[in-house]
Amino acid sequence: MIGVFDSGFGGLSTVKELIKLFPQHDMLYLGDSARAPYGNRSTETVIKYTQEGVEFLFSKGAKMVLLACNTASTDALRFLQQKYGNEKKVLGALIPAVEEALEKTKYGNIGVVGTRGTIVAGNFEKEILKRSVFLYHPASKKAQKIPKVFSQSCPLLVPLIEEGWIKKPETRMILKKYLLKLKSCHIDTLILGCTHYPLLEKEFAKKMGKNCILINSGKAQAQKFKEYLHLHQEIAQTLSQNGTRQFFTTDCPERFAELGSQFLGQKIGDVQKIEF
Ligand code: DGL
Repeated sequence: MIGVFDSGFGGLSTVKELIKLFPQHDMLYLGDSARAPYGNRSTETVIKYTQEGVEFLFSKGAKMVLLACNTASTDALRFLQQKYGNEKKVLGALIPAVEEALEKTKYGNIGVVGTRGTIVAGNFEKEILKRSVFLYHPASKKAQKIPKVFSQSCPLLVPLIEEGWIKKPETRMILKKYLLKLKSCHIDTLILGCTHYPLLEKEFAKKMGKNCILINSGKAQAQKFKEYLHLHQEIAQTLSQNGTRQFFTTDCPERFAELGSQFLGQKIGDVQKIEF
């Protein structure tokens, strides 16, 4: 089974993309809604919560776990990968989005939006700049320029989206304010580095204009995971394919099912509550 962990139900936007590419794979999802949002929490807290969530998924039979949550990927991925080594595989949401942004950027002006925790940590920026050497490699005919990264935290967007205020003028106004600086930097590629932002993708597109490519981190994660499994047949073969989905939450299952279906794009039936 593929395990997917998120701070709440936002990671279901990643599951939606995974289902498109892996319709038969069994999936287990845990959303830690009782302790969400993670976006404003300290790194230590996010590591502790993420580790508990990931271990729960492994204990339920996940053969590998994807961190759909960008904040958890920022704070906890490296810690977990070092802790588990090759024993238990955990993959994050950042590097797939970074790779896609570097593949698609025309002029190397890359913007990143995310929660406060994600943006303050600066990991998107570090990962982009780490790879920028490849843009200079003589064998690469891609770009002549070192990428420039412009980041913006958008802490109000998660609560607005969870309130269902996607089409409200207040949300559009706040988004416009958040994007002002990025627009003035002539961003040509923008990473939506948060599970919730795909729900506002049309608004982001309208505000950034048609010359800016949007990178949906969940979509990038699903696509790169496909490529990863292609290269790692030994892991691909351990993943069962009976088309089952199991959903777990640490908070109210009814609210999870109701809000989660907007992210998943389909109705969620049975949700089980767990406690740590
Ligand atoms: N899942 C989080 C992320 O992608 C957003 C919600 C939260 O702050 O917990 O960063």
